Amino acid sequence: MKQNDQLVRRAASTTGLLLIILLIAFTVCNYSSLTLSPPQYIDVSGEATASHGTSARSSTRASNAGGRGGGGAACDVARGEWVPDPAAPYYTNATCPLIDSRQDCMKYGKPGLESILRWRWQPHGCDLPRFDAAAFLRLVRGKSIAFVGDSVARNHMQSLMCILSKVEFPTEIEAKECIHCTRKYHYREHNFTVCVFWAPFLVRWNLTRAGALQFMDPHNVFLDEADPEWTRGVAGYDYVVLNGAKWFTRPAMLYEGSRLVGCNDCGSLDLNAAAPPPPNYAVRASFRTALRALREHPGFRGTVIVRTVAPPHYENGKWYDGGNCLRTRPMRSNETGLPETEAAFHAAQVEEFRAAASAAAAGRFLLMDVSEMMQMRGDGHPGQYGHWQHEKVGFGIDCVHWCLPGPVDAWSELLLHLLSG
Ligand SMILES: *[C@@H]1O[C@H](CO)[C@@H](O)[C@H](O)[C@H]1NC(C)=O
Ligand SMILES: *[C@@H]1O[C@H](CO)[C@@H](O)[C@H](O)[C@H]1NC(C)=O
Ligand SMILES: *[C@@H]1O[C@H](CO)[C@@H](O)[C@H](O)[C@H]1NC(C)=O
Ligand SMILES: *[C@@H]1O[C@H](CO)[C@@H](O)[C@H](O)[C@H]1NC(C)=O
Repeated sequence: MKQNDQLVRRAASTTGLLLIILLIAFTVCNYSSLTLSPPQYIDVSGEATASHGTSARSSTRASNAGGRGGGGAACDVARGEWVPDPAAPYYTNATCPLIDSRQDCMKYGKPGLESILRWRWQPHGCDLPRFDAAAFLRLVRGKSIAFVGDSVARNHMQSLMCILSKVEFPTEIEAKECIHCTRKYHYREHNFTVCVFWAPFLVRWNLTRAGALQFMDPHNVFLDEADPEWTRGVAGYDYVVLNGAKWFTRPAMLYEGSRLVGCNDCGSLDLNAAAPPPPNYAVRASFRTALRALREHPGFRGTVIVRTVAPPHYENGKWYDGGNCLRTRPMRSNETGLPETEAAFHAAQVEEFRAAASAAAAGRFLLMDVSEMMQMRGDGHPGQYGHWQHEKVGFGIDCVHWCLPGPVDAWSELLLHLLSG
């Protein structure tokens, strides 16, 4: 395929063809959830988002607009600073056996963890209480939560499970070994069910050719059809946490109805189309489709939480040419801002959230806006410490997922805040 050739050529020029072939093979097995190529289309015009007339920056205000007004009407938990917290973290690799080894930065000795872990999120104008596992489990007794999205949804779920492990461990229902699949867990004492649905695009997708290499070949993405992987299982859930963004920077053929509307990173493929839409066009469409599917789902009566994009942090290169994330402390809010691609994803997500929330009962749709807080945490990714240094695992440097424990644990504080609001 054209895309693969390009990928190989690009990388081969820096690292050598043999290594690249190995990397691709390992990538498919181990790091399949990372973006395969840099986004080809950067939204410089802002046209795709202009129809709703809001910028990413002002949109962060929506965290209370769709909420239940908890935590003080003036408090926007999306804005704040990371402040020192000697009591952090909530758990370690020794106390939580549920840490995915690829995010086990303690085990693999990520340098600087002593400083990286000792922070908590301090919103401007209000306090986010420390996470209370017993209170959370009381709140969700007899209830169920579904995480729908990509591998960062799983990362989030595992963080929640670790933070709850002080009180109770779950058992997996029909235990599986797979990584990219739907998995379900149950907390017996609290009759609480947690599920992660593997739906990286939220909408239906398949590979462009039968027998293609998953994660390497381009995907067909059907922007106006919610992915049945989650819609057929979501009935009866009390909470659904939706996310998705990074897969939209992979090579993809985008369909609406049966019409090919564009492609992402499609090389020299001639679509007979005008300018291909930027990836945030597809992010917007998929959130719109997913939110509509939830609103209209005959068996779903629960609360929907839209979790915004958590930016990756490759510096001095991309994942395939030496980029890394070596910081050992958070940045301040005035030292960084969302990169263009993530800002456009964020705007698309927030605007689709607002449209859905305004058409629904108050509090049915909630926004969990983590983008700015995570933009400050380039120190919180495994980098090359998601495996032993002598292991040749994938391309080896993960600046997309989050260490456990790590800054992603603050998402559980936000979740508890939202659900108890
Ligand atoms: C946890 O990490 C430490 C190093 O920080 C390591 O010595 C220990 O073996 C790890 N424990 C587990 C269970 O992985
Ligand atoms: C457990 O919770 C489910 C809903 O998630 C409910 O249908 C069921 O009756 C509960 N079981 C018990 C034993 O309370
Ligand atoms: C992907 O889905 C489309 C539309 O349903 C179908 O026509 C096509 O055959 C599928 N592709 C593969 C490789 O299965
Ligand atoms: C950011 O703000 C802090 C404190 O408010 C200040 O000390 C620092 O100089 C600022 N940094 C930049 C880059 O503006």
